[in-house]
Amino acid sequence: MKGAAIVLAAGQGKRMKSRLAKVLHPIAGKPMLAYVLDRVKGLKLEKSLVIVGHQAEAVSKVVFHRGMVPLLQDPPLGTGDAVRAAKTSLKGYRGPVLILNGDTPLLREATLLRLLEVQRKGGGALSLLTMRMDAPGGYGRIVRGGDGTIEKIVEARDTSPDERTIQEVNTGVYVCEADFLFEAIDRIQPENDQQEYYLTDIVGIAAQRGLRLIGLEADPEEVMGINSRADLAAVEAVVCNRINRRWMEAGVTLIDPTRIRIDDAVTIGMDSVLYPGVSLSGACRIGEGVMIKDYSVIEDSAIESGATIGPFAHLRPGSILRKGAKVGNFVEMKKSELGEGSKANHLSYLGDVTVGRGVNIGAGAITCNYDGVKKDCTVIEDEVFIGSDSQLIAPVTVGKGAVIAAGTTVTQDVPPDALAISRTQQENKADWAKKRRAKQKKDG
Ligand code: UD1
Ligand code: CA
Repeated sequence: MKGAAIVLAAGQGKRMKSRLAKVLHPIAGKPMLAYVLDRVKGLKLEKSLVIVGHQAEAVSKVVFHRGMVPLLQDPPLGTGDAVRAAKTSLKGYRGPVLILNGDTPLLREATLLRLLEVQRKGGGALSLLTMRMDAPGGYGRIVRGGDGTIEKIVEARDTSPDERTIQEVNTGVYVCEADFLFEAIDRIQPENDQQEYYLTDIVGIAAQRGLRLIGLEADPEEVMGINSRADLAAVEAVVCNRINRRWMEAGVTLIDPTRIRIDDAVTIGMDSVLYPGVSLSGACRIGEGVMIKDYSVIEDSAIESGATIGPFAHLRPGSILRKGAKVGNFVEMKKSELGEGSKANHLSYLGDVTVGRGVNIGAGAITCNYDGVKKDCTVIEDEVFIGSDSQLIAPVTVGKGAVIAAGTTVTQDVPPDALAISRTQQENKADWAKKRRAKQKKDG
């Protein structure tokens, strides 16, 4: 589509009080900035530029990952100065420039398209997205003249008491004609409370010249900007709600969805059921008809159809459950595969192990994959039975169809179909307990 985009992402985000650049804070497992870039990418504009500065290298990674171009603003001197950093890259370009902030991740593509359309049809110098709020807090106020035309934007900290009560505010999303933009941007002065170059000043410049300015009102939820940790939590709640709704529409049952967290990158098959307290993070792939019971935490794992997990299971990155496999209460897995129909139902740790099909892992069985220095792998072949409370000291292989007796510590490979047992012979001492009781009574 005709047009260019500039995304502003060079700020530090002081109000976050964080060592991490604001735009990199994750929302449902994905950096805040990535949401904005994905929206912009969907527009298929001729050029998409992203202004980076604070933690430029890390921020640029997110930009490159989406095939966009980062431009350095060094040092960041305000939103107006940020746009100036794109001037050279857009030299000779004529047409609409969409400008938006990297801290507004809830924006919808349709809204951006509408603003581009409004500007195209209106033919003025600039169109901007506004919103109305009962308590507009730190947002820039839209000051309109007696005839209703936009006169300027005043940042919250620079407002007069009268201006402060204005409920129409700036969302930080604009479409501006390139020639006006880059000419006006050089006229901005840092004459404000923060002594920064405010992009918002171009609105006043356009108004003073009598150029046409159009305001398009947006749904306040969609243009919520993130400046603090509280804003981050509020936006994340909206994102998670959108994700949950998406999966319910796709045929997944969520029992008490407000208590279920699904990261943006997760996929879930039809007829899977998620119970309260379930958390699916990273790039989890969940098949069809999978049951994930209460308080199970799954990270970067692949679960095939018909598998059952939890309650209270923890699947760390690299876990694979093949069709119909079962992982029960208080089982932890890491970089491990559980074969088709295999079960680990109670109290186990499975780390760096490949388990074949039809295997039963008894209660409390544990893979000892770490010797204090390095990690080693365990292989459990098809149809093995691992007795309860046994330990498998890696590296070790248990051959197909073998049985490990309960309480065994496996230190050597077990051949197929063998029994491995490593425990002392049981001895029963007749009346031992009875005699002790008698002695205890006598001794008082
Ligand atoms: C800005 C607007 C305000 C609007 C609000 C909407 C200005 C002066 N104010 O305020 O009117 O109501 O957004 O959310 O524009 N950035 C840079 N370089 C800089 C400074 C900031 O790239 O030198 C980036 C930040 O990374 C951020 C965006 O610009 O993504 C907005 O900056 P921020 O400081 O959050 O502006 P607000 O105070 O929210
Ligand atoms: Ca902001």
